[in-house]
Amino acid sequence: MSDTAGHDAAGAWRELAGQVDGCRACDLGLVRTHAVPGDLPDPYDGGPVPLLLVGEAPGADEDALGRPFVGRSGRLLDQLLDEAGLDRTGVAVANVLKCRPPGNRAPRARELAACRPWLHRQLALLQPRVVVTLGGSATTWFFGRGARLTTLRGRPHEVDGRTVFATYHPSAALRFGPRGAPLAGLREDLGTVAGWLAR
Ligand code: URA
Repeated sequence: MSDTAGHDAAGAWRELAGQVDGCRACDLGLVRTHAVPGDLPDPYDGGPVPLLLVGEAPGADEDALGRPFVGRSGRLLDQLLDEAGLDRTGVAVANVLKCRPPGNRAPRARELAACRPWLHRQLALLQPRVVVTLGGSATTWFFGRGARLTTLRGRPHEVDGRTVFATYHPSAALRFGPRGAPLAGLREDLGTVAGWLAR
């Protein structure tokens, strides 16, 4: 990939981020502090990214800083990525909702529908080798309603021509604690993804 192409792709991402910032397709755009478009790998050469992690929606820390997974869940995620041999700076990160729902309530159907085109555009731009969905909202985004994390996790799936792994959300890992199934599952699944990427 040439430098020019790299700059073009990074420029396209910045342009998209600016559009997300101005989005008023649902009411969340009126109440959030910052929109959170997502993170590119750093550096980004403009080619397909190896891995895109997709979460649910920004929380309070992400809303304050305008970046995904920078709060408690993010710190756990960084640690587990590191354990799996995956450097957070080398992966792209996004959410199905780009704006924080007040009080971290669950995303509403009309918000998910309004925000859906942004993630479609991000997928088209980044062409990730692998997508990892973190938790129920992101898993439903890719697999549809009725998708069950417990039956999907642990192996790659082909969804609309993309390779997608589904796993637990780090907030579930925090909620259920160090002996809970979500932490063990998330740790194991990120290890499986790292192995898949290294093939
Ligand atoms: N939870 C998410 O789903 N996304 C974030 O960016 C932070 C917390």
